[in-house]
Amino acid sequence: MKVTFKIWRQENRNTKGAIKEYKVDGLTEDMSFLEALDHLNELLVLKNEKVIAYEYDCREGICGQCGVFINGRAHGPHDNITTCQLHMRSFKDGDTIVVEPWRAASFPVLKDLIVDRSAFDRIMEQGGYITAKTGTAPEANAILIPKEVSDSAMDVAACIGCGACAATCKNASAALFASAKINHLNNLPQGHPEAHKRVQEMTYQMELEGFGSCSFTGACEVECPEGISITNIAEMYAKYTKAKLFG
Ligand code: SF4
Ligand code: FES
Repeated sequence: MKVTFKIWRQENRNTKGAIKEYKVDGLTEDMSFLEALDHLNELLVLKNEKVIAYEYDCREGICGQCGVFINGRAHGPHDNITTCQLHMRSFKDGDTIVVEPWRAASFPVLKDLIVDRSAFDRIMEQGGYITAKTGTAPEANAILIPKEVSDSAMDVAACIGCGACAATCKNASAALFASAKINHLNNLPQGHPEAHKRVQEMTYQMELEGFGSCSFTGACEVECPEGISITNIAEMYAKYTKAKLFG
């Protein structure tokens, strides 16, 4: 299998980047997309050229590190998978594949396809925790949680912090990410003590980081590999209003 990769190359956050073209042969449709990039890098090493920088860890859709735009779509052409779960069988022999880093001012490019997503870490620092007493583990059934509450919390706990939502949004809003993290903890009894503080401080940090406002276009929901629903954003803002009134 032979494809033409058009890949964003950028030395660092202070330099201008550009798309560079690479014709790559010797691929198979069973290769993952990242294995195809690995193959390209091996060819670049043989030619004594600089390898392409891209990020990954788990390569199984868990860590959220691998996200890139592939032919203009976050994580590639399929719904509900991450870049590392994409395979070359999704492309045809002779295809041209354009690969770019996340595009959002709050995610500056560090090198090639790697962006700085530490803005998400700083949002998490403002409320991505609960307060729990140390000591022996509590009895498993000490806090009974209704099934629909635990289901709603677990649905949003699936967020892997990949950043596709903010990168895809025309306003570069991080509202889907923040709402997933806030609703996960605020909906569970263990998260109630900090609930009002959490929603106010995490949304405030989101603004400080320069992410835009949500205008409910729904683009984030379409590109989220974990299928996080946009209804979480409405729920987050309802919680925010309640916190402002009663917090
Ligand atoms: S909400 Fe979805 S797209 Fe956004 S960071 Fe979480 S997993 Fe990624
Ligand atoms: S490398 Fe971990 S989600 Fe893709």
